[in-house]
Amino acid sequence: MRGLQGKGVLITGGSRGIGQATARRFLEEGARVFICGLEQDEVEQTVQAFVSLGEISGMVGDVSIEEQAHQIVEEAERRLNGIDILIDNAGIAWEEPFLEITSEHWDKIIAVNLRGMFLIAREAAKRMVARGNGGAIVLMSSKNGLAGEVKYAHYNASKGAVVMLMKTMALELGPLGIRVNALCPGYILTPLAESIDSPEFIGAYVNNIPLGRLGRPEDVAAAYAFLASDDAAFMHGTELLLDGGQLAQ
Ligand SMILES: NC(=O)c1ccc[n+]([C@@H]2O[C@H](COP(=O)([O-])OP(=O)(O)OC[C@H]3O[C@@H](n4cnc5c(N)ncnc54)[C@H](O)[C@@H]3O)[C@@H](O)[C@H]2O)c1
Repeated sequence: MRGLQGKGVLITGGSRGIGQATARRFLEEGARVFICGLEQDEVEQTVQAFVSLGEISGMVGDVSIEEQAHQIVEEAERRLNGIDILIDNAGIAWEEPFLEITSEHWDKIIAVNLRGMFLIAREAAKRMVARGNGGAIVLMSSKNGLAGEVKYAHYNASKGAVVMLMKTMALELGPLGIRVNALCPGYILTPLAESIDSPEFIGAYVNNIPLGRLGRPEDVAAAYAFLASDDAAFMHGTELLLDGGQLAQ
């Protein structure tokens, strides 16, 4: 894709699943990558595994804690010599009937999926504005940010809010040369999905998807790369759904 060569890319949640596939994709596109994740061993293993592909480094940090979110962006800026692209991807999910959701569980999902997304985006955007080179930001929402799914009220609410966060950021940051968009993937087979659903559930779920398969992390990585690239130069303030056609019915 055009315009990714040499760019500095911060990917939150880049140590596993979709974020890890995205780190690989950006390296293959010739970008320089900095990842963060929660688990030390996963961050180290990802950096080790991909170091032969290009320039990659990373650190452990929790995006929902303001001080750590600042440190992640500060370190990314230092290692990349400027953040051109932010892939604001880190998120968590679990199943829970609405009537049983505790306020602690509600707060946890919102803290990572919404507050963490905001904290990282605000810090990275401040630095993009200060550098004056523009930039591209992609926030991770979900198909569940556009349509409800039972047993995910907290998750769905967090992802719906990410869409509106993205739209408001687009209004304010567009005039400053920073493009902002969001991705809304459907069911993607990752460690997160496998931690929630049984193989039987996953097997049956395919019947909901007109393309007849689940999404792969690489499908999402390609969409992230597209939205961050110059090929998407006029895409701004929009959410891109990639769900194998599930919401078309
Ligand atoms: N898998 C799906 O079906 C699917 C569908 C739509 C959207 N998403 C979204 O995509 C994103 C990635 O999901 P995934 O399936 O790859 O998950 P995953 O669990 O496989 O990976 C999550 C990554 O985020 C990191 N992370 C989690 N909490 C963090 C925190 N507080 N601070 C910093 N890093 C943190 C983890 O260390 C890991 O690197 C999430 O935002 C998720 O909501 C996933």
